[in-house]
Amino acid sequence: MDLDGLDPHRIPRHVACVMDGNGRWATKQGLPRTEGHRAGEEALFDAAQGALELGIPYFTVYAFSTENWRRPGEEVRFLLNVIADQLLTRRRDDLHALGVRIRFIGRRDWRVPRWVLKRMDEAARLTERNTAMTLTVAFNYGGRAEIVDAVRALVEEGVPARKIDEKAIARHLYDPSIPDPDLVIRTSGEYRISNFLIWELAYSELVFTDVLWPDFRRENLREAVREFQARDRRFGNTDSRRGPD
Ligand code: IPE
Ligand code: IPE
Ligand code: MG
Repeated sequence: MDLDGLDPHRIPRHVACVMDGNGRWATKQGLPRTEGHRAGEEALFDAAQGALELGIPYFTVYAFSTENWRRPGEEVRFLLNVIADQLLTRRRDDLHALGVRIRFIGRRDWRVPRWVLKRMDEAARLTERNTAMTLTVAFNYGGRAEIVDAVRALVEEGVPARKIDEKAIARHLYDPSIPDPDLVIRTSGEYRISNFLIWELAYSELVFTDVLWPDFRRENLREAVREFQARDRRFGNTDSRRGPD
Protein backbone atom coordinates (compact mmCIF):
# COMPACT_ATOMS: atom_id res chain seq x y z
CA MET A 1 0.00 0.00 0.00
CA ASP A 2 1.28 3.44 -0.90
CA LEU A 3 1.35 5.40 2.31
CA ASP A 4 1.93 8.63 0.45
CA GLY A 5 5.12 9.51 2.26
CA LEU A 6 3.83 8.57 5.72
CA ASP A 7 6.10 6.58 8.02
CA PRO A 8 4.55 3.08 8.31
CA HIS A 9 6.25 2.61 11.69
CA ARG A 10 4.61 5.66 13.20
CA ILE A 11 0.98 5.16 12.29
CA PRO A 12 -1.10 6.21 15.33
CA ARG A 13 -2.70 3.30 17.12
CA HIS A 14 -5.83 5.25 17.95
CA VAL A 15 -7.26 8.23 16.06
CA ALA A 16 -10.36 9.99 17.39
CA CYS A 17 -12.42 12.61 15.50
CA VAL A 18 -14.78 15.35 16.59
CA MET A 19 -16.95 15.42 13.48
CA ASP A 20 -18.01 19.06 13.55
CA GLY A 21 -19.42 21.51 11.01
CA ASN A 22 -22.32 19.59 9.47
CA GLY A 23 -24.82 22.40 10.09
CA ARG A 24 -22.57 25.13 8.68
CA TRP A 25 -21.78 23.02 5.63
CA ALA A 26 -25.50 22.69 4.86
CA THR A 27 -26.29 26.34 5.55
CA LYS A 28 -23.50 27.39 3.18
CA GLN A 29 -25.22 25.45 0.41
CA GLY A 30 -28.65 26.80 1.25
CA LEU A 31 -29.78 23.42 2.59
CA PRO A 32 -31.42 22.55 5.91
CA ARG A 33 -28.92 21.62 8.66
CA THR A 34 -30.13 18.05 8.57
CA GLU A 35 -28.67 17.60 5.06
CA GLY A 36 -25.30 18.27 6.64
CA HIS A 37 -25.75 15.29 8.94
CA ARG A 38 -26.63 13.08 6.00
CA ALA A 39 -23.52 14.24 4.13
CA GLY A 40 -21.49 13.82 7.32
CA GLU A 41 -22.30 10.15 7.38
CA GLU A 42 -20.75 9.77 3.90
CA ALA A 43 -17.64 11.52 5.17
CA LEU A 44 -17.45 9.16 8.11
CA PHE A 45 -17.57 6.12 5.86
CA ASP A 46 -14.78 7.48 3.66
CA ALA A 47 -12.64 8.45 6.66
CA ALA A 48 -13.14 4.98 8.17
CA GLN A 49 -11.95 3.39 4.92
CA GLY A 50 -8.96 5.73 4.96
CA ALA A 51 -8.15 4.66 8.51
CA LEU A 52 -8.31 1.03 7.42
CA GLU A 53 -5.96 1.71 4.50
CA LEU A 54 -3.46 3.29 6.83
CA GLY A 55 -3.66 0.33 9.22
CA ILE A 56 -4.96 2.42 12.12
CA PRO A 57 -6.24 -0.19 14.59
CA TYR A 58 -8.65 2.04 16.55
CA PHE A 59 -10.78 4.80 15.03
CA THR A 60 -13.25 6.65 17.23
CA VAL A 61 -15.84 9.21 16.18
CA TYR A 62 -17.92 11.62 18.24
CA ALA A 63 -21.40 11.15 16.81
CA PHE A 64 -23.67 12.58 19.51
CA SER A 65 -22.79 14.24 22.79
CA THR A 66 -24.68 14.28 26.08
CA GLU A 67 -25.14 18.00 25.36
CA ASN A 68 -26.59 17.51 21.86
CA TRP A 69 -30.02 16.72 23.37
CA ARG A 70 -30.31 20.51 23.82
CA ARG A 71 -30.87 20.88 20.07
CA PRO A 72 -34.37 21.22 18.59
CA GLY A 73 -36.31 17.94 18.75
CA GLU A 74 -36.51 17.66 14.97
CA GLU A 75 -32.72 17.84 14.55
CA VAL A 76 -32.16 15.35 17.36
CA ARG A 77 -34.59 12.92 15.73
CA PHE A 78 -32.87 13.34 12.38
CA LEU A 79 -29.46 12.72 13.93
CA LEU A 80 -30.69 9.56 15.63
CA ASN A 81 -32.07 8.39 12.30
CA VAL A 82 -28.81 9.08 10.46
CA ILE A 83 -26.85 7.16 13.07
CA ALA A 84 -29.27 4.27 13.50
CA ASP A 85 -30.66 3.92 9.96
CA GLN A 86 -27.76 4.93 7.75
CA LEU A 87 -24.64 4.11 9.74
CA LEU A 88 -25.86 1.16 11.78
CA THR A 89 -28.11 -0.44 9.21
CA ARG A 90 -27.20 0.52 5.65
CA ARG A 91 -23.43 0.79 6.24
CA ARG A 92 -23.24 -1.96 8.78
CA ASP A 93 -22.84 -4.73 6.22
CA ASP A 94 -20.19 -2.79 4.27
CA LEU A 95 -18.24 -2.17 7.44
CA HIS A 96 -18.65 -5.82 8.39
CA ALA A 97 -17.37 -6.92 4.96
CA LEU A 98 -14.33 -4.71 5.49
CA GLY A 99 -13.59 -6.48 8.76
CA VAL A 100 -14.52 -3.54 10.98
CA ARG A 101 -15.60 -4.18 14.55
CA ILE A 102 -18.20 -1.63 15.66
CA ARG A 103 -18.38 -0.62 19.32
CA PHE A 104 -20.07 2.13 21.29
CA ILE A 105 -19.18 4.35 24.19
CA GLY A 106 -21.67 6.58 25.97
CA ARG A 107 -24.56 6.46 28.39
CA ARG A 108 -27.36 4.05 27.72
CA ASP A 109 -29.90 6.17 29.54
CA TRP A 110 -33.64 6.79 29.17
CA ARG A 111 -33.05 9.43 26.52
CA VAL A 112 -31.84 6.90 23.96
CA PRO A 113 -34.83 5.32 22.21
CA ARG A 114 -35.08 1.56 22.55
CA TRP A 115 -34.99 1.00 18.78
CA VAL A 116 -31.67 2.86 18.58
CA LEU A 117 -30.19 0.71 21.35
CA LYS A 118 -31.37 -2.35 19.45
CA ARG A 119 -29.57 -1.26 16.25
CA MET A 120 -26.45 -0.53 18.26
CA ASP A 121 -26.49 -3.96 19.87
CA GLU A 122 -27.12 -5.68 16.53
CA ALA A 123 -24.22 -3.87 14.84
CA ALA A 124 -21.89 -4.65 17.74
CA ARG A 125 -22.92 -8.30 17.84
CA LEU A 126 -22.62 -8.80 14.07
CA THR A 127 -19.12 -7.35 13.94
CA GLU A 128 -17.69 -8.43 17.29
CA ARG A 129 -15.22 -10.95 15.85
CA ASN A 130 -13.80 -8.62 13.20
CA THR A 131 -10.16 -7.70 13.58
CA ALA A 132 -9.21 -5.27 10.76
CA MET A 133 -10.12 -2.18 12.79
CA THR A 134 -12.24 -1.13 15.74
CA LEU A 135 -14.63 1.70 14.93
CA THR A 136 -15.94 3.16 18.16
CA VAL A 137 -18.97 5.40 17.93
CA ALA A 138 -19.29 7.83 20.83
CA PHE A 139 -23.03 8.16 21.17
CA ASN A 140 -24.80 10.00 23.98
CA TYR A 141 -21.24 10.40 25.12
CA GLY A 142 -19.81 12.96 27.52
CA GLY A 143 -16.32 12.85 28.97
CA ARG A 144 -17.43 14.12 32.37
CA ALA A 145 -20.34 11.68 32.45
CA GLU A 146 -17.88 8.88 31.68
CA ILE A 147 -15.68 9.80 34.65
CA VAL A 148 -18.75 10.12 36.91
CA ASP A 149 -19.95 6.69 35.75
CA ALA A 150 -16.51 5.16 36.39
CA VAL A 151 -16.41 6.57 39.93
CA ARG A 152 -19.96 5.38 40.58
CA ALA A 153 -19.00 1.88 39.46
CA LEU A 154 -16.00 1.88 41.81
CA VAL A 155 -18.16 2.98 44.74
CA GLU A 156 -20.80 0.38 43.91
CA GLU A 157 -18.11 -2.30 43.92
CA GLY A 158 -17.10 -1.12 47.39
CA VAL A 159 -13.55 -0.24 46.34
CA PRO A 160 -11.87 1.56 49.29
CA ALA A 161 -10.61 5.13 48.67
CA ARG A 162 -6.93 4.15 48.97
CA LYS A 163 -7.39 1.70 46.08
CA ILE A 164 -8.79 4.35 43.75
CA ASP A 165 -5.98 5.36 41.45
CA GLU A 166 -5.63 6.23 37.76
CA LYS A 167 -5.51 2.59 36.71
CA ALA A 168 -8.69 1.81 38.66
CA ILE A 169 -10.56 4.68 37.00
CA ALA A 170 -9.21 3.75 33.55
CA ARG A 171 -10.44 0.17 34.07
CA HIS A 172 -13.97 1.46 34.67
CA LEU A 173 -14.29 3.70 31.62
CA TYR A 174 -16.90 2.72 29.01
CA ASP A 175 -14.48 0.58 27.02
CA PRO A 176 -11.26 -0.13 28.91
CA SER A 177 -9.93 -2.26 26.04
CA ILE A 178 -9.43 0.81 23.83
CA PRO A 179 -6.02 2.50 24.17
CA ASP A 180 -5.87 6.25 24.76
CA PRO A 181 -6.01 8.24 21.50
CA ASP A 182 -2.67 9.21 20.01
CA LEU A 183 -4.27 11.74 17.71
CA VAL A 184 -7.49 13.73 18.06
CA ILE A 185 -8.78 15.61 15.02
CA ARG A 186 -11.38 18.34 15.21
CA THR A 187 -12.88 19.78 12.06
CA SER A 188 -14.69 23.05 11.27
CA GLY A 189 -12.15 25.47 12.70
CA GLU A 190 -13.31 25.17 16.32
CA TYR A 191 -10.50 24.92 18.86
CA ARG A 192 -12.17 23.06 21.68
CA ILE A 193 -12.72 19.56 22.99
CA SER A 194 -16.47 19.80 23.76
CA ASN A 195 -16.40 17.11 26.46
CA PHE A 196 -14.85 14.43 24.21
CA LEU A 197 -12.68 11.74 25.84
CA ILE A 198 -11.39 14.18 28.42
CA TRP A 199 -9.78 11.49 30.57
CA GLU A 200 -8.26 9.59 27.66
CA LEU A 201 -6.78 12.48 25.71
CA ALA A 202 -4.50 13.73 28.49
CA TYR A 203 -1.47 13.18 26.23
CA SER A 204 -3.01 13.04 22.77
CA GLU A 205 -1.75 15.17 19.92
CA LEU A 206 -4.48 17.56 18.78
CA VAL A 207 -4.93 18.52 15.15
CA PHE A 208 -7.44 21.18 14.15
CA THR A 209 -8.59 21.75 10.59
CA ASP A 210 -10.94 24.27 8.99
CA VAL A 211 -12.48 21.56 6.77
CA LEU A 212 -16.17 21.12 7.60
CA TRP A 213 -16.88 17.49 8.48
CA PRO A 214 -19.07 16.68 5.40
CA ASP A 215 -16.06 17.64 3.20
CA PHE A 216 -13.63 15.49 5.22
CA ARG A 217 -12.15 12.62 3.20
CA ARG A 218 -9.39 10.06 3.65
CA GLU A 219 -6.87 12.56 2.21
CA ASN A 220 -7.64 14.88 5.13
CA LEU A 221 -7.04 12.01 7.53
CA ARG A 222 -3.66 11.37 5.90
CA GLU A 223 -2.83 15.04 6.22
CA ALA A 224 -3.62 14.93 9.95
CA VAL A 225 -1.49 11.79 10.38
CA ARG A 226 1.34 13.58 8.55
CA GLU A 227 1.06 16.44 11.04
CA PHE A 228 1.01 13.91 13.89
CA GLN A 229 4.19 12.27 12.62
CA ALA A 230 5.98 15.61 12.66
CA ARG A 231 5.19 16.12 16.36
CA ASP A 232 7.55 15.35 19.21
CA ARG A 233 5.69 13.45 21.94
CA ARG A 234 7.49 13.75 25.23
CA PHE A 235 4.94 12.58 27.85
CA GLY A 236 6.41 14.95 30.42
CA ASN A 237 9.89 13.62 29.79
CA THR A 238 12.85 15.48 28.31
CA ASP A 239 13.30 13.15 25.37
CA SER A 240 10.56 11.75 23.13
CA ARG A 241 12.55 8.53 22.62
CA ARG A 242 11.95 7.56 26.24
CA GLY A 243 8.21 7.02 25.60
CA PRO A 244 5.36 7.12 28.17
CA ASP A 245 5.93 4.42 30.87
C1 IPE B 1 -21.57 18.06 14.02
O1 IPE B 1 -22.04 19.12 13.25
C2 IPE B 1 -22.62 17.01 14.25
C3 IPE B 1 -23.02 16.89 15.65
C4 IPE B 1 -22.69 17.68 16.62
C5 IPE B 1 -23.86 15.77 15.99
P1 IPE B 1 -22.91 20.30 13.87
O2 IPE B 1 -24.35 19.93 13.77
O3 IPE B 1 -22.43 20.64 15.22
O4 IPE B 1 -22.58 21.46 12.85
P2 IPE B 1 -22.27 22.96 13.19
O5 IPE B 1 -21.15 22.97 14.19
O6 IPE B 1 -23.53 23.57 13.74
O7 IPE B 1 -21.86 23.56 11.88
C1 IPE C 1 -19.24 18.24 19.34
O1 IPE C 1 -19.77 19.14 18.45
C2 IPE C 1 -20.10 17.01 19.42
C3 IPE C 1 -20.08 16.13 18.25
C4 IPE C 1 -19.34 16.30 17.20
C5 IPE C 1 -20.95 14.99 18.34
P1 IPE C 1 -20.76 20.31 18.92
O2 IPE C 1 -21.07 21.09 17.70
O3 IPE C 1 -21.89 19.73 19.67
O4 IPE C 1 -19.84 21.13 19.92
P2 IPE C 1 -19.91 22.64 20.35
O5 IPE C 1 -21.32 22.91 20.79
O6 IPE C 1 -19.56 23.45 19.14
O7 IPE C 1 -18.90 22.81 21.44
MG1 MG D 1 -21.01 21.90 15.90
